[in-house]
Amino acid sequence: MRIAVVIHLLGVIVWVGGMFFAHVCLRPVAAAQLAPPQRLPLLAAILGRFFTAVAVSVVAILGTGVLRLSELHGAPAPWHWHAMSGIGSAMIIIFLIIVFRYYPRLKVAVASQNWPQGGAAMDVIRKLVLVNLVLGFVTVIIARVGA
Ligand code: HEM
Repeated sequence: MRIAVVIHLLGVIVWVGGMFFAHVCLRPVAAAQLAPPQRLPLLAAILGRFFTAVAVSVVAILGTGVLRLSELHGAPAPWHWHAMSGIGSAMIIIFLIIVFRYYPRLKVAVASQNWPQGGAAMDVIRKLVLVNLVLGFVTVIIARVGA
């Protein structure tokens, strides 16, 4: 079903492109130009909006991916579909860990103006986003190479 694959790809573009922008463009400049009391509330608010967009993208990616798999009606899936499902699932788990474990810590730290705690939470989020960014690139390459 072509429209499902288009929706799948739009979700991937929002998620992976957003992680690239946040990690490579936004955060280094914010870290260089803003002190923690200015930087952390700004990044927490930006991440809140981004995570909402990613949550919608994840639902779209997962829904359309599973829909496409279901069209096989039990026939064996190509190797790159398996690889994509596996790495994609790992990416989703990492996203959930960020949203339910470390992002709440960042918000609490910002609300209580505890900048060391906020910086520590932001540091873990930054590393997990980098892992997902690399996995995202790998998944896109595998999806295309196998197609
Ligand atoms: C998490 C579960 C996922 C499932 C079950 C899944 C499943 C699928 C399936 C079945 C297709 C084949 C569509 C077709 O050829 O008709 C597809 C295409 C694609 N997927 Fe995924 N996917 C998932 C996650 C991801 C993620 C996380 C990425 C990238 C970060 C990704 C990138 C792509 C790309 C680039 C294509 C297009 C390949 C082409 O050009 O033919 N997918 N996906």
